[in-house]
Amino acid sequence: MRAEIYHLNPELIDLLERASHAPALRNDFYTKWIRGPLGPSEVEVFAANYFARTRHTSAMVAYTLLALDDVEAKTEISKNLFSEFGNGNPQKAHINLLIDYLLDLLGRLRGRKCSVEEFNSLPILPTTTEFTKRQHSLYQPGPHSMDRCRVLGAHLAQEWIAYPMLVQLYEGARNYQYLYQDLDEFHEECEYFYTHIGESEKSHREQALFAAGRACQSSSDHDARLDSARAFLEITANFWDGLALAMQSRRTGP
Ligand SMILES: [Fe+2]
Ligand SMILES: [Fe+2]
Repeated sequence: MRAEIYHLNPELIDLLERASHAPALRNDFYTKWIRGPLGPSEVEVFAANYFARTRHTSAMVAYTLLALDDVEAKTEISKNLFSEFGNGNPQKAHINLLIDYLLDLLGRLRGRKCSVEEFNSLPILPTTTEFTKRQHSLYQPGPHSMDRCRVLGAHLAQEWIAYPMLVQLYEGARNYQYLYQDLDEFHEECEYFYTHIGESEKSHREQALFAAGRACQSSSDHDARLDSARAFLEITANFWDGLALAMQSRRTGP
């Protein structure tokens, strides 16, 4: 753990260190997802809700950029934002890589193409809507340094858990290799995962640590940052719990 060098308070360092065993990263959803292949209706629940959750990520990074005054910290966060938009190539924007992957996967599972319109009409769980609502409130700009530190805390928690999240999602994605003609085809379709676990999320984490350390100085700033990071981990755990329950009911029926 290198968080000490970023002048984070010990409570925040402790929270981050414990995150790998916390419900945001260890939960029933990941267990189900990694254990083995799921049916089309369960994967649909994952696809629609994970996309609904993830589509706001770049806006949250933009809010983080706006919350900063320090030019060096702004520069770091701008790299995160640029990477979310494919380093200038819209085809490689992470949200486009994700929708391409999900549409392709659902099409393979169903044995027929899944259109964007069809995908957009898939139901979104109340727990996902709640995640988005609370996520936006954590990133809400405000005039005080504590407001800025709240944004930085949420952003740090988001980026801290993103790498292990993507690793676990990729491990689950490997369960569907049987749907692809060969390994070449499978890996070709997995670019969303490779861009994240190959480089992006490692850099985003460092950038978030740097910015969080620069922005928050006073003890009330530290408290705001800690509370917000904790809240982000909680809403993330609730999001995955909602998915696990919904997938279970799809499996067992009404
Ligand atoms: Fe991303
Ligand atoms: Fe990230």
